[in-house]
Amino acid sequence: MTSTEANSMEDVSLHILDIAQNSIAAGASRIAISIQDRPGQDRLEIRICDNGKGMDPDQVKSATNPFYTTRTTRRVGLGIPLFQASAEATGGYLKIYSEKGTGTVVQAVFHRRHMDCPPMGRMEDTMAVLVCCNPDVQFYYSHIFSGRKFVLHSGEIQQKLGEISIADPDVIVWIKEYIRSGLEEIYGGV
Ligand SMILES: Nc1ncnc2c1ncn2[C@@H]1O[C@H](COP(=O)(O)OP(=O)(O)OP(=O)(O)O)[C@@H](O)[C@H]1O
Ligand SMILES: [Mg+2]
Repeated sequence: MTSTEANSMEDVSLHILDIAQNSIAAGASRIAISIQDRPGQDRLEIRICDNGKGMDPDQVKSATNPFYTTRTTRRVGLGIPLFQASAEATGGYLKIYSEKGTGTVVQAVFHRRHMDCPPMGRMEDTMAVLVCCNPDVQFYYSHIFSGRKFVLHSGEIQQKLGEISIADPDVIVWIKEYIRSGLEEIYGGV
């Protein structure tokens, strides 16, 4: 994992930030981000699940088309198509499961050993931005590497903090360090 380097546009962590921002735009109060990194199976699976407003089947179909967007500021929505292109470049795929009024799951599968498989990037930065900008949203982050698992529940942390906001700069620094050391542990210095 090249997580100590600067972020690159293709990093998986930045795609995740993009996709989770769609969940926030859809009014989600709970967002689960799950990463299953299984080099033994040549497979990296990312899932972003939310309880936002969801999409009907036509909207789901259109979401992978870069010329479809419900944004009003700009005609072309690229978050999902870029993530999809990135997964497909490795021989993988992206799927969206959504139900209007219930929520959405975006699943991307990468072939991990393919030379075009992007680096993970800095998940601690993605989570820090998400938590900091959306302190009222409950984030469930789970990250598995070869059967070893790291988890973080922002709601649980907020509960322990009591009066102090999870968006407090000192707390955000702590969250970043907590994630970084948790990931170093499961990756075992890889
Ligand atoms: N989690 C979600 N819940 C509900 N609708 C979604 C969700 N994710 C995407 N969509 C719908 O699919 C459209 C396309 O998403 P996409 O991320 O590709 O582009 P965008 O968000 O419109 O623009 P960009 O990501 O480039 O800023 C969104 O405009 C939205 O209507
Ligand atoms: Mg988007």
